[in-house]
Amino acid sequence: MGAGTRFGTGVIIAGLLLSTGALADTVRVGVVGPFSGPYAVYGKNFRLGIEAYVSAQGMKAGGHEVSFVYRDLDAPNPARAKAIAQELIVKENVQYLAGFYFTPNAMAAVPLLKEAKVPLVVFNAATSSITASSPYVVRTSFTMWQNAVPAARSAGRLGIASAVTAVSDYAPGIDAETAFRTTFETLGGRVRDSIRIPLGTSNFASVMQRIVDSGADGVFAFLPSGPATFGFVRAFHESGPRQMGIKLLTTGDVVTEPDLPALGAAGVGVYSTYHYAVSHVSPENAAFLERIAAVGGQRAEVAMTAVAAYDGTHLLYRMIEATGGARDPDRAIEAVKGLAWTSPRGPVSIDPVSRHIRQTVHLRVVERSGDGYINREIDSFPDQPDHGFEAVPRPPAR
Ligand code: PHB
Repeated sequence: MGAGTRFGTGVIIAGLLLSTGALADTVRVGVVGPFSGPYAVYGKNFRLGIEAYVSAQGMKAGGHEVSFVYRDLDAPNPARAKAIAQELIVKENVQYLAGFYFTPNAMAAVPLLKEAKVPLVVFNAATSSITASSPYVVRTSFTMWQNAVPAARSAGRLGIASAVTAVSDYAPGIDAETAFRTTFETLGGRVRDSIRIPLGTSNFASVMQRIVDSGADGVFAFLPSGPATFGFVRAFHESGPRQMGIKLLTTGDVVTEPDLPALGAAGVGVYSTYHYAVSHVSPENAAFLERIAAVGGQRAEVAMTAVAAYDGTHLLYRMIEATGGARDPDRAIEAVKGLAWTSPRGPVSIDPVSRHIRQTVHLRVVERSGDGYINREIDSFPDQPDHGFEAVPRPPAR
């Protein structure tokens, strides 16, 4: 019997009858992420971001204590994601869901939100269609379109007139490929080849050969941050493309800070577009990094998922305040539409239509700095929306 049938609709409703309408003294938030396995550093960053926010703002929102219930999901696994989300809703009685590193896992939880009256704050999963698929989803991370469009706009100044795209073969990869190709071609660029790499690939020799054979000036690449991004950058450095002077331009996922020390020289010179660099210079980022240190985080392990969780917790607190701790997803979501604040990454706001975060996207380059390596910001694209929101089919607005 599949996970979907084991926890049927009736079970969810029965569980909810106990809590609907009642004001909860403690509001529980279920956080799903990779807390073990090869992506564990990004799940750890979810936790660090939440704990840094709570240590700064206190454990209460609108007079209600907030508690976080963590559940580990170490890989894309929609059936397991759905079962975990149901368990959090029914058994743990959470009023909010948050986290979700991988798109397929977030998509599996979305169909539960409406009936369970549970808003979802996405801390990472970056396919545009996620917020479009339910009015109860908000997202504080980024989308592939949001970062890939500025990448395509930057290609010309990096001397890339023709490109090959290389992306992981699943939803965010397809978004990244489409966003880069359409923008690059509109600007007069030529895409010579589009390579789709199966998730789980660890040997990139044939990908590198295809890049060389394409005759392109540059590669645009996206893979989900983790073992594959590390392997891809290493392979690029050690094989033909780098030696031939082909440029590597990626989304920031491919060169996250936790990987930079071990990549060493292999990372230097990689261009990327992204919404957050740990080296970003601002008072808000300095305060954020101090708070991360105060809750036990090492600077070397900080990644984008910590800032998404920190800002996501900000939204959870605003929603709990606005609803007085009651289960009222419509009021909760309304309360954060249009909300603007200064994040550690810079000025941000929640787009009232897409419910996705608008933010500055930077062009960066990996450089040596002191004893380590950083993504140095060299250009910026302010107030970027999710360029993909308009491009995806979605149900009519309620
Ligand atoms: C996703 O599955 O949406 C995803 C995962 C990791 C990333 C980016 C996107 O770095």
